[in-house]
Amino acid sequence: MCGIIGIASNKLVSTNIIQSLKKLEYRGYDSAGIATIVNGEINEKKCTGRVDNLEKMLFKSPSNGSLGIGHVRWATHGIPSQVNAHPHSSEEVSVVHNGIIENSNELKKNLEKKGYKFKSQTDTEVITLLLTDFLKNCDLVDAINKTLKTLNGSFALGILFRKYNNIVVGARRGSPLAVGYGPEENYLGSDSYALKSMTKKITYLDDGDVCIITNNKVDFYNSKNKKINKKILILSNDKYNVEKGDYKDFMSKEIYEQNITAKTCIKEYIDQLRKDINLYNFPIQPIEIKKIVLIGCGTAYHSCVTAKYWFEELTNIPVEIDIASEFRYRKIKFDKKNLYIFVSQSGETADTFGALDLCKKNKVKTCSIVNVVESSIARSSDFVLPIHAGPEIGVASTKAFIGQMLVLYILAIKISDLRKEISRLEYEKKISDLKKLPDLIKSTLDYCQNSIPIIAKDFLKAKGVMFLGRGLSFPIALEGALKLKELSYLHAEGYPAGEMKHGPLALIEEGLPVVILSPKDKYFEKTISNMQEVIARGGKVILITNENNKIISENVRFSLKIPKTDEQLSPFLMTIPLQLLAYHVASLKNCDIDKPRNLAKSVTVE
Ligand code: F6R
Repeated sequence: MCGIIGIASNKLVSTNIIQSLKKLEYRGYDSAGIATIVNGEINEKKCTGRVDNLEKMLFKSPSNGSLGIGHVRWATHGIPSQVNAHPHSSEEVSVVHNGIIENSNELKKNLEKKGYKFKSQTDTEVITLLLTDFLKNCDLVDAINKTLKTLNGSFALGILFRKYNNIVVGARRGSPLAVGYGPEENYLGSDSYALKSMTKKITYLDDGDVCIITNNKVDFYNSKNKKINKKILILSNDKYNVEKGDYKDFMSKEIYEQNITAKTCIKEYIDQLRKDINLYNFPIQPIEIKKIVLIGCGTAYHSCVTAKYWFEELTNIPVEIDIASEFRYRKIKFDKKNLYIFVSQSGETADTFGALDLCKKNKVKTCSIVNVVESSIARSSDFVLPIHAGPEIGVASTKAFIGQMLVLYILAIKISDLRKEISRLEYEKKISDLKKLPDLIKSTLDYCQNSIPIIAKDFLKAKGVMFLGRGLSFPIALEGALKLKELSYLHAEGYPAGEMKHGPLALIEEGLPVVILSPKDKYFEKTISNMQEVIARGGKVILITNENNKIISENVRFSLKIPKTDEQLSPFLMTIPLQLLAYHVASLKNCDIDKPRNLAKSVTVE
């Protein structure tokens, strides 16, 4: 992952680099660093932990200079430490890198043979030393080209040179990179979000592009080293509020605003007057779709699992789901009549992008469901369905999950209607039920607000937790388990309730918390029987249902009754208590809610 920034200016740059790095912290937060050119020398400062630590460091010992690069790290090669933090500098060159150099071991050996000494355990330092080595005999452009040709793997780079002290160089292969244009200064950044406070004029680099940035000019070259012109895009003004307001952290804000997220998303797709869904220019005739393939990672993958149930219930189209990191390396039988859907909040996830790229190479129709519409995945797909959730800052995805599921559900009912697989009456009923969803989300949030903190206390001594559900509640069980583990570091498993007897039941012992998701649907009785099997073995059951819970079982430790809704909409409401449970367990354990350990918001490495 990692976030990179570069500024070429005629003013001091360190304050703006620090401010931009704070915006990039969602990409990595285990260490941070900056390099500027001061009195003709490279001046590098780095530290472990957050950008705040780097800021304090610079307060004591400023990093002057009107040319600089900065970095926030998410460790891949080498532990999070000061020496492994970026930039990685020699006397001649300083490099910040996002991505992975796959042949770094081999390159390192060759450089060591030439007498170069490595200070860090990172893959990035090979880039610094390769450039340093090539610069002995080549000019700047040649040294850059030769270095990039030597590298296997993925990178977005920001580079400073001692000798060429008016330029910042950027290069992209596989990892995102953008250029921004300001008044008498120009910028390089991992994304437009980091640059937005300085400029609204942005150019995205494509794979193979290199840019040379000075304070008054930006030159672009393609992979064949040919000078090229690139489009400048003007970013729209933010309509979303990215402040925490009165909330303790971004995650609680993002959870408690999910009724608004749902309302905004529904408004974007539903034509209120005609009781219809607008999809505008959908790239494939729904009647011609032979198969739908849904691809994502983590939480986004869970929204794909939910969608499989919807598409299967509402249409006759076969559906396949896949985790992007698996899909991209399998021997896939591509078919032009299939629709390949990519789900991603950030739109930058390397595995999802890799899977999309594979589809594009096989010339099949691609559609992406993203939150960030300027992202690489959105820009590369044939058709984009935004989720309109606004920036999600908490590393654990919450409102984006609700948004992803909403768009997928809307797509499923629209395709079903266009293929005449549901009646017009059913279609209109589904639309009017959808319109009620934001209010039901709000009632669920209100209802859970007091009960979940009490339930969470019960989890503090737990060794692990199981989440069980059937049908549409199964992917929500997966998501509940993922939220709990990533936020509270408590081991959790999500399982189809019917699968327990095939092994995992052995884990149930006296006092093990087991969260059972059982809305009143066609699986209800079966799930309740599975719950009894858990209770009989000493499991401490937390039941989440929309049925009259008093009559279900006396041996349930806690039960929550969430509002009733159309069966197919229950995943939206079932998700909320699970997000809040993870949140409160993590709060009680004093975990860093918005930035869980070892994670990052945008996963741009494989
Ligand atoms: C979990 C979480 C991750 C992401 C996954 C994909 O809370 O946020 O599992 O869902 O890394 O990210 P996107 O959606 O940006 O492709």
